[in-house]
Amino acid sequence: MHLSDRAQAIPSSNIRDSMKRVAIETAKGTVVNLAQGLPEFAAPDVVKQAAIDAINSNQNQYCDTWGWIPFREAIAAKYSNHYGLTVDPHEDITVTCGVSEAVNAALLTVANPGDEVIVFEPFYENYFANIIISNAVVRYVKLHKPDFTFDPKELEEAFNSKTRAIIINNPNNPTTRVFTREELELIAKLCQKWNVFAICDEIYEHMVYDGRKHIVMATIPGMEERTFTCSGLSKTYNLTGWRVGWVIAPPFYTAALRKIHDYLTLVAPTPFQIAGVTALQLPEKFYSDLLTNYTVLRDTLSDALLNAGLDLLRPQGTYFILADCSNLGFKNDQEAVEYLAREHRVVAVSGFSFFRPNTNSQSIRFCFAKQRPNLQRAGELMAALKERRKQEAT
Ligand SMILES: Cc1ncc(COP(=O)(O)O)c(C=O)c1O
Repeated sequence: MHLSDRAQAIPSSNIRDSMKRVAIETAKGTVVNLAQGLPEFAAPDVVKQAAIDAINSNQNQYCDTWGWIPFREAIAAKYSNHYGLTVDPHEDITVTCGVSEAVNAALLTVANPGDEVIVFEPFYENYFANIIISNAVVRYVKLHKPDFTFDPKELEEAFNSKTRAIIINNPNNPTTRVFTREELELIAKLCQKWNVFAICDEIYEHMVYDGRKHIVMATIPGMEERTFTCSGLSKTYNLTGWRVGWVIAPPFYTAALRKIHDYLTLVAPTPFQIAGVTALQLPEKFYSDLLTNYTVLRDTLSDALLNAGLDLLRPQGTYFILADCSNLGFKNDQEAVEYLAREHRVVAVSGFSFFRPNTNSQSIRFCFAKQRPNLQRAGELMAALKERRKQEAT
């Protein structure tokens, strides 16, 4: 029996394992599922109709490998309208099977074996596997609790002549941080000093709360020429199953990335790219309603978790909460998550897989992209958690 080193080095996904826990616990009785980042909401009707129309009009073949041209034009229009960034739909954009492929393809475009890739820790667990797939080496820079900021000195020390890229997930899963302009400018300065690429996963770009603004890294002076901007339809439009994302990069890098994309997946689903045009052309009200709704959900779950005795940074962005359970006397976050599922019927994701191997993170990630009654129910189910742990300790 033989496996490649990379296949052996990649751990199985803890987020996917948490869904198995949902299934096991559901078989025993009702649970509230706050685990995987799946929005519990329908896609906008007009977008669904556009996909149905595309399928009914027999748009069922491969389209342009780099992306359905009107969809690429809609992506370019969106970046121009929302962020004032000029993007050429023909030279700068590649449509991918989600941001998952986009980040993989970007790394495979620039990284050689042994190159270092910086990630902020905690990180979205895919990046660890993405870096292994590209035969590069992970270099961690900590985002420090409680507010998940990085120490500029630690960041500076992580850059060196082997650094090829830095992955920046902003807004950040799992910490929810929305990086400030000052933070992005410091990262940008170091990328330019060390000639490093910024691979930016901006999939939560529309979920930024309390008046914060999402800043696209490519708009920071000197960054457009070294940035791969990755985003997609999954989160904003509740379309995680459609598998449509994109990468924006300068023409030279786009041309190379397109070859990787061609041989990885060939093309993203045609009817869903066609419907993506309708999604990207939704009016501003769609985005303001999204923020209003998510702000209510964020507060509902944040209050419930605080009441249950967990510590947290009220989310600045995304639809997650990374809660600290170190007050509750669990051996580690896996034990905490198992206890929550078994005793309180709420399933979440244990935080360890967002950290370097063998970290006892004492963190639990909850997703609040759920119907409000489900979040309220989770609050009721966990209300006695703190008291119960106190009693169990005595
Ligand atoms: C930070 C981040 N990037 C990418 C993805 C996956 O995106 P896609 O569905 O576009 O592949 C997720 C999904 O949870 C995510 O949290």
